[in-house]
Amino acid sequence: MRFTTKTGKPENAETECLVIPVDAAKPEGVAAALDGQIKGQLAKILAAGDLENKPGKVLMVPGLEGAPATRALLVARGKSKELEPGEYGKMVEAAATALRGAAAADALWCLGEVPVKERDTYWKVRLALHSLSSHIYRFDLLKSKHDTDTPLKLKRVSFAVADRDERTSVNRAIRHGSGIDEGMRLARDLGNLPSNHCTPSDLARQARKLATQYESITTRVIDERRMKQLGMGSLLSVTAGTREPARLIVMEYKGGRTRQAPHVLVGKGITFDTGGISLKPPAAMDEMKFDMCGAASVIGTIAACAKIELPLNIVGIVAAAENMPGDGATKPGDIVTSMSGLTIEILNTDAEGRLVLCDALTYAERYKPRAVIDVATLTGACVVALGRHASGIFANDDGLARELMAAGEFTGDRAWQMPLWEEYGQTLHSNFADVANVGGREGSSIVAASFLSRFARKFKWAHLDIAGTAWLTGTKKGATGRPVPLLVQFLMNRAKVAQ
Ligand code: BES
Ligand code: MN
Ligand code: ZN
Repeated sequence: MRFTTKTGKPENAETECLVIPVDAAKPEGVAAALDGQIKGQLAKILAAGDLENKPGKVLMVPGLEGAPATRALLVARGKSKELEPGEYGKMVEAAATALRGAAAADALWCLGEVPVKERDTYWKVRLALHSLSSHIYRFDLLKSKHDTDTPLKLKRVSFAVADRDERTSVNRAIRHGSGIDEGMRLARDLGNLPSNHCTPSDLARQARKLATQYESITTRVIDERRMKQLGMGSLLSVTAGTREPARLIVMEYKGGRTRQAPHVLVGKGITFDTGGISLKPPAAMDEMKFDMCGAASVIGTIAACAKIELPLNIVGIVAAAENMPGDGATKPGDIVTSMSGLTIEILNTDAEGRLVLCDALTYAERYKPRAVIDVATLTGACVVALGRHASGIFANDDGLARELMAAGEFTGDRAWQMPLWEEYGQTLHSNFADVANVGGREGSSIVAASFLSRFARKFKWAHLDIAGTAWLTGTKKGATGRPVPLLVQFLMNRAKVAQ
């Protein structure tokens, strides 16, 4: 899909689909101009009442006589003068859905003329691009016949711009939005790949591939022998039951000055989580192929930042392993020594995410980072608490949590801060080791975060629990690519990139 800008009067444009906002009560802006040209056909269509006047409703109208456009997609904007961002989002979603299924090869997007509260052109274009890209995405790598459902006709979308200034911000939004889209796509592909096609070694291969694609990225892969030397007994305990070798993947993106302290992203990369000896029940266990979505989002975010050429240094650390029962597997009650020196009593081998993350967090210390953010499909309890709309944020620094929430709000990839009070960690007490890997069932997302916080004492740190947001279930089953938009936006804000 290509995105471009277009100046000039939209009503005169030769396009296969003119996407225009309409207030069913009376045509305004582009709609009014078009209606003047086509002798009131539009007003007549609106008066017929087939298009309900509220955001989220659209009507495709082919063959308007006298208009150079092949068809017009009428997008209801409702009566309010200025729309809430969420209402505008509904308009954009509906328009993107209609365009995805339409026969038009190109479209001229004119929804930018609708005023939105506290939002500018840049944001509107970012939203449109995000929405269109998400709708176009299909995962058919493993189907013998590609493109089995509705083949995509749409090849190009142009954004109507009024003047030079607007063109500058629209182009910027296209550049940023395309970078983020590329990162999301990569994260979704990796997430959707099943565990026999996406092993820790496959993730490492992908990270190495990025290093060949971008000069700004270097990738190093730490194998189990080196992990042992580093003292990563916790990470190694998770991989003990599988034949698939674990990998600690380190990607360094250099976009800032040499001495600038990096932001470190840490991703949970469990390529399949059976639960280990504390075996999971069979229902929906296939979805545990998504247990590496944190890792995928870290890889995707690094790719996006490289594409956008963000002036910042970023390190991505992926802790990749498969969690299997088997000969040699870790057993409940086993005690291991983490890289930090803390000993851990593993009471439940299904609480493996924290076990790989804690060693990766300790490894992050060597970068003297400005901040560390880990991303993990960590707890089922987070899905219970927040549903599938928001990722959970846990942080040892409220400012950092607020910045992440703001980035999520801006991109529509929302997250919500949860408390991380000391009391929640009390249940992690062990009679035999420094700490246990599980505590009480109540508030167990916070207990998990509390476990991680013990390995994040040396830097500003936030943990994103994406168990509810990384993938969808049911008929729409598939990876979402979240929280790539949130992370890239956060880093863009940190880099003070112009919008
Ligand atoms: N990967 C799971 C968390 C998960 C489960 C995410 C279901 C999304 C849907 C994680 O490794 C896990 O098994 N967590 C346990 C922790 C428990 C043993 C303390 C959980 O959430 O039940
Ligand atoms: Mn588990
Ligand atoms: Zn897991």
